[in-house]
Amino acid sequence: MGTAIVTGAASGIGRATAKRLAKRMTVVAADRDAAGLADTVGAIEAAGGNAIAIKVDVTSGQSVRDMIAQVDAAVEATGDPVEAALFAAGIFIKGPVDDITEDDWDRMMDTHVKGTFLCCQAVLARMVKRGIGAIVTMSSDFAVMAVPDGAAYCAAKSAIYSMTKSLALEFAGNGIRVNALGPGPIDTPILRSGRSEAEYQAARVSIAARLPLGRLGQPEDVAAAADFLLSERAGYINGQIIHPNGGQQTW
Ligand code: NAI
Repeated sequence: MGTAIVTGAASGIGRATAKRLAKRMTVVAADRDAAGLADTVGAIEAAGGNAIAIKVDVTSGQSVRDMIAQVDAAVEATGDPVEAALFAAGIFIKGPVDDITEDDWDRMMDTHVKGTFLCCQAVLARMVKRGIGAIVTMSSDFAVMAVPDGAAYCAAKSAIYSMTKSLALEFAGNGIRVNALGPGPIDTPILRSGRSEAEYQAARVSIAARLPLGRLGQPEDVAAAADFLLSERAGYINGQIIHPNGGQQTW
């Protein structure tokens, strides 16, 4: 059956992907938010799937090592080796350059770039032993398009895309594929961050109006793409970025 690790699984895209993957795999749901993880695992179990929750802070090497030790123990118990992973833990800090503090910059890079690297490093070591596996990292449309007040976020997401291509090249000979997702605007708590309720509702309307498909993305739209990239149906796709974005960037 195989095990899939999903970080950021307490909310949004990570939760939707964990729920979708649980239809065909054992899922390790990892996040720093224990309450959100419990909700995700509860939903998976209620639907008849298998999942375990592991609390992790992806910015910490020790925390990621603790997570992977728990994954190893779970794999030993279930006999389901790690064959897939989505690394979706993320934060969103946006603002004019003058307002971005050194701490903001470090949190952005540590969460997205260092966190993705540490998780890939830990999981790749397991996958290499069996010569099988697929990883999906979480980039963004903003890796390849500019957005006002987005210097730190855009830089972090571009770094993830670049790292993904390099990892794909390095591990292709080991039978492992590494791809990135680059979503457009998806209606998750991240879309609310830094906005009042009124600003959030106005943003939902204005963003939907400028997208060719005329609607915001839902976490399930991205989960479907992640599930595809992590499946054998995507067996010849490697080192790519796929954009579930309603057609943003097309014009
Ligand atoms: P979300 O806020 O619903 O989920 C993010 C999850 O990451 C949360 O559960 C949070 O607790 C977890 N997290 C944050 N820092 C962590 C850390 N240090 N260690 C462990 N867990 C941590 O947001 P959403 O939208 O589901 O975002 C998932 C990913 O998708 C993020 O990387 C985000 O940048 C990316 N993305 C989101 C888009 C959107 O419009 N929602 C568009 C493009 C990319």
